[in-house]
Amino acid sequence: MAKAMKVSKRPAAMKKVSMKKVKSKVAMRSKTPVPAGLGNFKIRIGIIHGKVFDPIKVGTHDRNYPEHLKIKNNTGPNADGWGGQFMADVSTGLKIMRLHPDVFHVDFMTMEQVTEKRLSRNHLTFNFWGDMSIALMNEKPKLAKRLQKIQMNPNFRHHPVWDYYEWILHKSRYMKACERAGIPMIDTIHLEKGFNARDVLKKIVAKGWDKFFVKPAYMSFFGAGVINGKTQDFIDNIEPLLQYEKENKHQKEFLVQPYMLKPNGEVFDEIRNFFCDGQWAYSVYTDGVDYEGFWEQPEGQLKEACKNLAIRTMEEVKKVHKWEGKRINSLLNRIDIGIIPDKSRKLGYRIFVNEIEPQMTTWLGRYCPFVIQDRMAEVCVKQAHEMLKRSLAARRKMPSPQKVRQLLDVLEQRLKES
Ligand SMILES: Nc1ncnc2c1ncn2[C@@H]1O[C@H](COP(=O)(O)OP(=O)(O)OP(=O)(O)O)[C@@H](O)[C@H]1O
Ligand SMILES: [Mg+2]
Repeated sequence: MAKAMKVSKRPAAMKKVSMKKVKSKVAMRSKTPVPAGLGNFKIRIGIIHGKVFDPIKVGTHDRNYPEHLKIKNNTGPNADGWGGQFMADVSTGLKIMRLHPDVFHVDFMTMEQVTEKRLSRNHLTFNFWGDMSIALMNEKPKLAKRLQKIQMNPNFRHHPVWDYYEWILHKSRYMKACERAGIPMIDTIHLEKGFNARDVLKKIVAKGWDKFFVKPAYMSFFGAGVINGKTQDFIDNIEPLLQYEKENKHQKEFLVQPYMLKPNGEVFDEIRNFFCDGQWAYSVYTDGVDYEGFWEQPEGQLKEACKNLAIRTMEEVKKVHKWEGKRINSLLNRIDIGIIPDKSRKLGYRIFVNEIEPQMTTWLGRYCPFVIQDRMAEVCVKQAHEMLKRSLAARRKMPSPQKVRQLLDVLEQRLKES
């Protein structure tokens, strides 16, 4: 699963967004009042945060951004990701409270702070960074176990739900679904029972690939655990592939692919398509080799073609993204479309789906034409309303269900008014 990790030392130029405009929009919202008698009761939304590499646009941060949630000293050569102190995940939570301060309380927690007790106190918890795969990546197996137990149990009302999460994290699952739907992907040998070097090499030779690329297919990120090279070199000396087999005994699932290079010999580039609330929202070019190579994809045929391919792919995501057993739009997805210049095609490019990412991915709000945390907060409010309605109907145990019902009625009115 791709998350951060093109590390840029220099913050890119960012357009300032007028805070005046933002404020006046909020002030104009006509508000159905919360009934007297609810006291200080609020719907509690947990937000698991930790996107220390995903800053928002300069000037768009909440004026009361809590000190303890700021990422301090995140500048200079040691900065995480693109630097900065105000991140997209926390900013979304703050915006939820700004939109409806009398309805929502947001409980910010890092993944290390996640406990069953804490999630039970919340009505919903949105995980923006800090699921079991990230705990495993950070070499915290105990924490990963604790998170897995919570993620698997719908009584903790943790989003994303387990089945969808598993579908995304097992790359072969979604790749096969996309292949069945006729969506262009990289030709792939799916290994699901471990890596056997001799067997794999035979399969690569049978495919006729002169260069290949192997990557783990479950809970992998940042290109971890990959091996690639010329097929002939491995035929001449299989030793490095046997070594890879040894080092990856703990993994069961792998993808074996041709090495996808541009005519100039560099790795393919991507246009990353973001979906908020199931709708295509923006796309960001990401260079395959240049760590500074990020920008909003400019208008044009290539953007349109990638957008259309991503929308087709999103249809597959929508089939599996559910809450209480019924489909609901996801909060955010990123669909990475690989692009390779190809003069033989009308578009001038070969395009294919490389990856589907859940909301824990990097949102790249710096290259988004609107303020990402504002949009995401509205999506979270809308979805929280629907999710809680369903969870109440499913009789999930949660704090003060009757009061939650009353606040959901208020929210429903407000959503109609806005
Ligand atoms: N078949 C391939 N040929 C050449 N390069 C590849 C291939 N597959 C992946 N890569 C390179 O490895 C990078 C990581 O692979 P991918 O995006 O599929 O998985 P990931 O492990 O989730 O990584 P990341 O978190 O970096 O996106 C890609 O961005 C690309 O540069
Ligand atoms: Mg990737």
